[in-house]
Amino acid sequence: MSVFVSMASLQACLMSTPLCASLSLPRLSLAHPVAHLSRPTLRFFSGDHSITMAQSSPMSMPAWVASCARGRMRFRASLKEDTAIDVGSESVAARASPRLMLVSDLDSTMVDHTDKAHASLLRFNNLWAAEYAHNSLLVFSTGRSLEKYTELRRQAPLLTPALCIFSVGTEIRYGVTMEPDQDWENYLNQGWDQAVVLEEVKRLNLRLQDESEIRPHKVSCQIDKKDATEIIDTLSRRLKDRGLDVKIIFSHGLDLDVLPKGAGKGEALAFLLHKMKTEGWAPQETLVCGDSGNDIELFEVDGVHGVIVGGAMEELKHWYEENGKHNNRLHQAKERCAGGIVEALEELSLGPYLSPRDRMGPNGIQLSDTASENGQPKGSGLAQREVVEFNTFFEKWINGEVPNDPETFQRLTSVIAPGSTMVYPWGVEKNLLESVTDAQPKHGLTKDKKFRTWIDCIQEQKLAEGVFMVTWHAWQMSEGAERTGYFATAIFREKEGTPNGVEWLRVHETPRKS
Ligand code: GLC
Ligand code: MG
Repeated sequence: MSVFVSMASLQACLMSTPLCASLSLPRLSLAHPVAHLSRPTLRFFSGDHSITMAQSSPMSMPAWVASCARGRMRFRASLKEDTAIDVGSESVAARASPRLMLVSDLDSTMVDHTDKAHASLLRFNNLWAAEYAHNSLLVFSTGRSLEKYTELRRQAPLLTPALCIFSVGTEIRYGVTMEPDQDWENYLNQGWDQAVVLEEVKRLNLRLQDESEIRPHKVSCQIDKKDATEIIDTLSRRLKDRGLDVKIIFSHGLDLDVLPKGAGKGEALAFLLHKMKTEGWAPQETLVCGDSGNDIELFEVDGVHGVIVGGAMEELKHWYEENGKHNNRLHQAKERCAGGIVEALEELSLGPYLSPRDRMGPNGIQLSDTASENGQPKGSGLAQREVVEFNTFFEKWINGEVPNDPETFQRLTSVIAPGSTMVYPWGVEKNLLESVTDAQPKHGLTKDKKFRTWIDCIQEQKLAEGVFMVTWHAWQMSEGAERTGYFATAIFREKEGTPNGVEWLRVHETPRKS
């Protein structure tokens, strides 16, 4: 929602706004000493600052004080455990079994290198954040090393996955910290000797790939397609003679990967699924997505659905013709890359397939998508969806992609609770409705710049009955400009008659470096 501020005005403001002396710790005194509060927002203490409480019903002061103390204790305990902040609420996000685990290759599957604007990836991101992020798990499985993956993240608007499988299924890493799976490493060490593989590759005069792509359990070269069969035969024979049982994978008509026998994208996924099952959080459904030779194994994992995206490589299409054509859990997509993934969600009936961008009617109101309504307990993920739809509407508004009239603009203003505020990074608090209304004259401002936004790391927590907190990272990108981003937190309250059954109570944004 940096909707309200352009980075330039933000800089200007940072320079000119004296960082409020009033923001230094306010003296605790009640502006309205009341025994019972009729609204969830308590205005007290210094100037305009307020506390938004996590309940929508009246609450007496002593109860509030006690609940604060309890909240603080939980907050401390959770910090000690180094987990996410848990304010004693029940998280809406599924902590148990993900409804869907989507395991996708990156190059030419999630990322279309022929499309500089990344239209289909942004469409996927929009759908994922609105409809899946609250109960599903995103996994990337790539041939790239962590280093080359980091490079790709700078070029393409990729979401942050829950976990990543790198270097053709030889490294499994979890979360933002990219913690490696030690069990997987130990397993791959058995019967593997990287030095021997390197020796035999050199003996055959094969051209090694970049240093970053030679990993503890992966030796990769580039060879001529016409020599592939002969090289693979000789290499596997020689390695066998030296006591190594390896797996050799040929992809893109050029890349040759030598891995431990038990490695590979499919083996890594099977290991992960087994681990999740043992730990009691196996996904209800799994969808694997790929385009080339090193993805073939993914489609062979037991029980998974799969999509071969449009524009796939010959080696995978050939495999599909021979082995996959009659498997109704697999789909060969017409659409390229992330567009093919979205197509498969529909074709394989795996859940919602219309993103807010696709569902927006001419007046900016979201058309309903029955798939989105199915299987959603009331309240679950709705505030999250509201963030994405609001953001998408804002994008369309300043791109001039929705009509410039007050009725349409109401999509934004009608969801703001009276008296709500926006806290700017430099400490100024402003009426939220006014902040939103500031965007009205910006209709069509970015019409020639292909301004695009996407939302990452979105999480929803239920704080109390009918009250939700959503946190997210928002990114903005337009042609010829640097990517900008911010972290945001917002509080929502249930409200009948709004597009997602919730209204905005409070927003706080902090800009971040790209
Ligand atoms: C990626 C990796 C490369 C590998 C190829 C095929 O491009 O960077 O090392 O050979 O995928 O698996
Ligand atoms: Mg690929």
